[in-house]
Amino acid sequence: MSSNLISKYNIAGPRYTSYPTVPYWDNKKFSLRSYKETLIRSFKESNTSEGISIYIHLPFCESLCTFCGCNKRITKNHSVEIPYLKSVIKEWEMYCDLLGERPVIKELHLGGGTPTFFSIDNLNLLLDGIFRIANKAENTELSFEGHPNNTTKEHLSLFSKLGFQRVSYGVQDYNEKVQKSIHRVQPFENVKKVTQDAREAGFTSVGHDIIFGLPFQTKEHVVHTIERTKELLPDRIAFYSYAHVPWIKGNGQRGYKDEDLPTAEEKREQYEIGKKMLLEAGYFEIGMDHFALCTDSLYQAIENKTLHRNFMGYTTSRTRVMIGLGVSAISDSWYGFAQNVKGVEEYQNLIENNISAIYRGHILTKEDLVIRKHILNLMCNFKTTWFTREDYFEDLPEVIHSLKEMYDDGLVEFDTNFLKITEHGKPFVRNICMAFDMRLQRNKPETQLFSMTV
Ligand SMILES: C[S@@+](CC[C@H](N)C(=O)[O-])C[C@H]1O[C@@H](n2cnc3c(N)ncnc32)[C@H](O)[C@@H]1O
Ligand code: SF4
Repeated sequence: MSSNLISKYNIAGPRYTSYPTVPYWDNKKFSLRSYKETLIRSFKESNTSEGISIYIHLPFCESLCTFCGCNKRITKNHSVEIPYLKSVIKEWEMYCDLLGERPVIKELHLGGGTPTFFSIDNLNLLLDGIFRIANKAENTELSFEGHPNNTTKEHLSLFSKLGFQRVSYGVQDYNEKVQKSIHRVQPFENVKKVTQDAREAGFTSVGHDIIFGLPFQTKEHVVHTIERTKELLPDRIAFYSYAHVPWIKGNGQRGYKDEDLPTAEEKREQYEIGKKMLLEAGYFEIGMDHFALCTDSLYQAIENKTLHRNFMGYTTSRTRVMIGLGVSAISDSWYGFAQNVKGVEEYQNLIENNISAIYRGHILTKEDLVIRKHILNLMCNFKTTWFTREDYFEDLPEVIHSLKEMYDDGLVEFDTNFLKITEHGKPFVRNICMAFDMRLQRNKPETQLFSMTV
């Protein structure tokens, strides 16, 4: 890929796990009452037909990885586990009371932080609290994020017994210098062990997260990491671009300087060689950043046209309702978004007093709903169409016109009723979605809100 294209399109841009993106939520017009109404409405429309998704944020980690952009609390004190889980279960009970009917869980994901920070007994307590008042859908997909340094056979066997089939492990990079610089020393042997243990426990989808663009990382390190990854042949690979967002409060991205990071061009080379190696190894590219073997449910979701993207990233089923439990978790009622407070103590206090932990959100307008559909189509299928009035919004002709330059650069093809991203344009999918993002177009930020698109 030419360096001209990289310098032209490497700008700050959202990753579109939602539209509107969080910095563009209209918090002033948001009210908890209207959000609850949208949630009940969507739930009634979809609970028995498609079920709902649940995301549970488990924020604790024993040690800080200095590249990490997630909301986490570092502690070695495990007495935090029970009070936190009690609040999560209570928050779930409050939702179930509001919904008034037993939810059918189609998808449940434990993320963090580090879910495997928690003991087996406590995880059992949490999941018992969730499923005691809910039903599982027929092909429910239960998954968790596991840290290779502390996922035990006992964790895997408990999860497997409870019906979990999918785990994703944070690998990042196998080079020692890179690992030291991000304060995450994690030998290949650990990843090999937990990958094998998961398979022995009956997991059908084992995923590895790999990152390019980390401090001191070179193209050779990426090649080495993928060579080693191929030895274990995970079912799914998330191949993330390192998101450098040091201005986000408390995320701890320090311990290295901006000069220690690869340049945009080096980063793009790392991505290209990584992608080539993964395709040669038999993986299929799914949406942005993801690769899967054809036997994995993520690949099958493409075949079945059910691939979806929400705050959990890419998922295999299109559920309209996603309930986020725990600190900083975001819920999606299809017609609205809502986020919980970020502090552990504040969250626990609110829930203990039967008060919702939601502190901000957004109710989607008619235009938001149409744009969201196009952005979802682009992020999941690299194409979108507008045949009916419901697919049309007032500024659509302007949007298409603004893509003329990307058309000239060979990134997109379009006609009166469709837009398609070319093979060449796939790495720039975020830039293409930005053209549809009317909230961003009408109110360009003065300070940097998002990580760079390359
Ligand atoms: C919550 S962590 C995974 C679970 C567990 N805490 C661990 O580290 O193994 C989820 C994944 O997010 C990705 N991630 C975190 N911070 C990132 C950043 N700044 N840029 C890109 N990916 C990031 C990493 O690949 C990480 O494995
Ligand atoms: S990468 Fe995982 S273990 Fe490391 S700080 Fe982030 S959430 Fe915690």
